[in-house]
Amino acid sequence: MAEKANYIHGVSPDEQTRLQLLNELTNQSFLDFLQLNGYEEVLELGSGLGILCAQVARLLHRGRAVGIELSKAQLGKAPRFPSNLEFVMGDVHELPFDDASFDVVYGRYILEHISNPPGALKEAYRVLRPNGKIYFQENSILWMEFYPSCPHFMHAWKKFAQLQNFLGGDAMIGIKLFDRLKKAGFRNLEISLAPELHTADSPHFKSWITNLIGNLRSAEKKLMEKQFLNASEFLHAINELEEFMMHPQASTYFAWNRISGVK
Ligand SMILES: C[S@@+](CC[C@H](N)C(=O)[O-])C[C@H]1O[C@@H](n2cnc3c(N)ncnc32)[C@H](O)[C@@H]1O
Repeated sequence: MAEKANYIHGVSPDEQTRLQLLNELTNQSFLDFLQLNGYEEVLELGSGLGILCAQVARLLHRGRAVGIELSKAQLGKAPRFPSNLEFVMGDVHELPFDDASFDVVYGRYILEHISNPPGALKEAYRVLRPNGKIYFQENSILWMEFYPSCPHFMHAWKKFAQLQNFLGGDAMIGIKLFDRLKKAGFRNLEISLAPELHTADSPHFKSWITNLIGNLRSAEKKLMEKQFLNASEFLHAINELEEFMMHPQASTYFAWNRISGVK
């Protein structure tokens, strides 16, 4: 299956390094959120490098984990083990699975990138067993604060959000999750936040800022080609975050949007 040119981050080696870093930062908290009992059949929508899906599989003593992913380059990096782990190449809008074949379906950083979230949610609903659980972690990317402020980065970040929407995604899907899942028929919906609060002296501060720089870099070519940013604006944004990363009093605030529900 061809790589999707409209996936804002692309699948370059640098982007894969960024995604791995983001997994290191956010996986344990997400695994806790899933509250697995170890017996489930689990599906991840848009499994990327497969790092999270492999960790899920290790928690399933009797169950199995399946990741569906569109990109051959991402699948090429996915782990082969443990033995109850499987990856399938495919599109989350057309799941190649029977009705009612999973106990848990989850997705992370995926609805923001796809052209038809209601269509993908309809598919997720179809492949879930009755009383099966659904979980998402997405974001509204403009919910970000820096002290000292980073106006050049925030300008570029707004343009990044506009580009993401232009490419058919939704950079503010996080705040719409309740609406979207309710319309898809899920019940017992609960929303929550997973905060990213980092200060100059906290252990993941530099990794978090490195991830933000990587986000912007992953879209550099498209931002320029589509004239959302010029080279000078892009460089100012990157330089500002690099300086922020060295600032001894810096602090930054962000939160992931989470939702859980039941079929
Ligand atoms: C930001 S990554 C997140 C990967 C993984 N969920 C994680 O948390 O590390 C989004 C992934 O979704 C994939 N993707 C985008 N559109 C897709 C679609 N329509 N169907 C399946 N995968 C898709 C991309 O190729 C990319 O690997």
